[in-house]
Amino acid sequence: MKTILITGAGTGMGRATAQTLSQHKDVSLVLMGRRKDKLDAVLAELNHQENHVAVSVDIGNRTSFRKGLTSISPEERDIVALFANAGIGGENAYGDDDRWDEILRTNLNGTYISIMETLPYLKASKQAFKHILMTSSCLARFGVPNYTAYCTSKTGLLGLTRSLAVELASDKILVNSLCPGWVETEMAQQGIQLLADRMGQDYQTTYDQQMGFVPLERMSLPQEVGNLVDFLFSGKQNSISGQGIDINNGSWMQ
Ligand SMILES: NC(=O)c1ccc[n+]([C@@H]2O[C@H](COP(=O)([O-])OP(=O)(O)OC[C@H]3O[C@@H](n4cnc5c(N)ncnc54)[C@H](OP(=O)(O)O)[C@@H]3O)[C@@H](O)[C@H]2O)c1
Repeated sequence: MKTILITGAGTGMGRATAQTLSQHKDVSLVLMGRRKDKLDAVLAELNHQENHVAVSVDIGNRTSFRKGLTSISPEERDIVALFANAGIGGENAYGDDDRWDEILRTNLNGTYISIMETLPYLKASKQAFKHILMTSSCLARFGVPNYTAYCTSKTGLLGLTRSLAVELASDKILVNSLCPGWVETEMAQQGIQLLADRMGQDYQTTYDQQMGFVPLERMSLPQEVGNLVDFLFSGKQNSISGQGIDINNGSWMQ
């Protein structure tokens, strides 16, 4: 049985990815996030439910992550992949209430902690190829105003991806990041609502305006991200490493 860790598994893309990966009967998923009730709800809807576990962790806290990981007896498992997907969004502004530290602590430090705590077990796996996949963002590709912390954190993940891809190549660990554009999740809905409030208009009008900037005029579905992760981890490819993989309906092109 192969074990795959997913952070941010209680909602959005993490949840959709868990649903997709649970279709494989030889896969055991470890669902990680802070809210145990959300993780348990996802666990209840998975295929081969008895194979999977839900563990509450705060990725921004090394002790919390390690405690959660230790609780699932990682040394007795064959951990073949980590989907380091958890993150927080929203704006920040310099001053007393700046969210800079909170966003960097979660998105950048938290992803680093998730990877480094999992790494010894990935290295121990005898699988021919192992995987670390982070969730960056199209906001690592272009800037938007008032998102300095978010853009910085997600751009930082691309540096982490490239450095680790080289460092871990001899361990046959493929390291990549996803760079999604808008994906229909709670985080995107909050982002649209924030813009709507700022412009003093309703959600739907703002949604339509934002989709007007996207060539395919749509948000991705979380399941599409799940399908992409499934492919990257499937063994159908063992060549993609060190990449930021764009899934954005054409909103940014290389
Ligand atoms: N939706 C988009 O349009 C979009 C676009 C580009 C990139 N992204 C990125 O995609 C990833 C997934 O986001 P999503 O869209 O699926 O939004 P989401 O539904 O808000 O998911 C984020 C998940 O991260 C978890 N999380 C946040 N802080 C955490 C912490 N300190 N420790 C452990 N877990 C934590 C949350 O669970 P708890 O609150 O229970 O901990 C939640 O399940 C994020 O990294 C986000 O930045 C999203």
